[in-house]
Amino acid sequence: AQRPWRRTALKHPPLVALAVLLALALLALTHLPPPLAGGHGRARSPRVAPAPATPSPAPRPQWDAATTPCGDEPPGQGKRRCRGEGQRPREWGSQSPSPCVERPRRQGSLRRGDRLRFGGTAPPWLSDDDIQKMKLLAHGQVVSKTRVPAHGQVLRVRLHFDGDAQPTGPGWDCGDGHCGLIKRPRDLYEVVAFHLDRVLGLNRSLPAVARRFSSPILPYSYTNGASRPVIWWAPDVQHLEDTNNDQNSCTLGWLQYQEMLRPRGTAPAVGYVPCASIQRGEWGRLALFDFLLQVNDRLDRYCCGFEPDPSEPCVEEMLHEKCRNPAELVLVHILVRRSAPSRLVFIDNAGRPQHPEAKLNFRILQGIDIFPETAVATLRSGCLGRRLLKSLYVDRELWESQGGAAGLGPLLQTLERRGQVLLRYLQEHNLTVVRDTP
Ligand SMILES: *[C@@H]1O[C@H](CO)[C@@H](O)[C@H](O)[C@H]1NC(C)=O
Ligand SMILES: *[C@@H]1O[C@H](CO)[C@@H](O)[C@H](O)[C@H]1NC(C)=O
Repeated sequence: AQRPWRRTALKHPPLVALAVLLALALLALTHLPPPLAGGHGRARSPRVAPAPATPSPAPRPQWDAATTPCGDEPPGQGKRRCRGEGQRPREWGSQSPSPCVERPRRQGSLRRGDRLRFGGTAPPWLSDDDIQKMKLLAHGQVVSKTRVPAHGQVLRVRLHFDGDAQPTGPGWDCGDGHCGLIKRPRDLYEVVAFHLDRVLGLNRSLPAVARRFSSPILPYSYTNGASRPVIWWAPDVQHLEDTNNDQNSCTLGWLQYQEMLRPRGTAPAVGYVPCASIQRGEWGRLALFDFLLQVNDRLDRYCCGFEPDPSEPCVEEMLHEKCRNPAELVLVHILVRRSAPSRLVFIDNAGRPQHPEAKLNFRILQGIDIFPETAVATLRSGCLGRRLLKSLYVDRELWESQGGAAGLGPLLQTLERRGQVLLRYLQEHNLTVVRDTP
């Protein structure tokens, strides 16, 4: 519906300007889609029904190779039109582009209809392995599905990608890494969390993309046109055998955790050391990541670090009351992979994008005295928002479902502000930054 607009527009520059102004005005009037938060993604109409009778009043630019580079500017940020290929989307909040310049890597060419837009280059923070997995998740054909016990709201699917060997045997499990977990539309924020993880150089969360499914194998609610996150299924995440505690790779109480974080030497480890395989620096990564996203349900599932609303799960499940007795508090979702037992793996990263700045949960940072270097440097550079925007742009489905740069802006600003709060915290507490371990 938008292509004719663009074609005419290109031929008549003054009309373009007029149309752009009109569009911006209308865009400002019509409310923008709520960014991810509020417990659900935007209810969107299915792709098959673009309602031709009522053309969108705010012609969102068509994000293809010809127009993308400049199309994602937030309103009022200038309207320079870029030409040609190979240009990257103009980075959001464009004050001084210089410190944010990175060398992109070649990554095949952009094909129309691709759900991932690398446009010949990939952001340098996405590894080749990330890109392969994102491609599998975004384009792989669903060949089977499995319910995940005790998780009614997610579905594990096996994905088949061109060129893969045909899956063999009826009981295909996911041991070969060809599966994804389809979550609820409201979990789309996990895709942003994946990009945040990579932009910060943490490399602890699992690849994720947004996708709309149409496979007849899937239940109707999965094919009704809403974007859902698909997270790569890591086949070797370790879970405790204990059915009451299978959300952890090791058991760790809050007090044990705080004890473990104390600088070595002052408290010589005697006897059993919980989660001993996990390197010390991992906790700084986790704390930084969870603070930016305000993920509570690893380090503070009881919401002890802020005053929760009565409707919060931690209140409804009577967890918050336990804050009075720290000996009862435990960490959850502390997971490692068998292939890398010294590293944490971050799953279920649905944070709290709407969590108010006045109530930020600093308990997440408690006891941490070292933080990862690359992540802190990225926060200091002031480039977090722009890099994230550039990274999210790769995921066409996420980008479009959230209203592009304008729709994502508030969310990215929130993350940047939390980053600044974190930097102030480091400074005030004289905390050190250490070189990253791989
Ligand atoms: C941080 O270091 C300064 C200067 O060394 C010192 O005055 C201040 O008390 C320290 N603050 C904390 C919280 O340790
Ligand atoms: C990122 O993590 C993956 C999987 O844990 C690992 O294979 C890879 O080497 C890591 N990349 C970097 C740059 O550390």
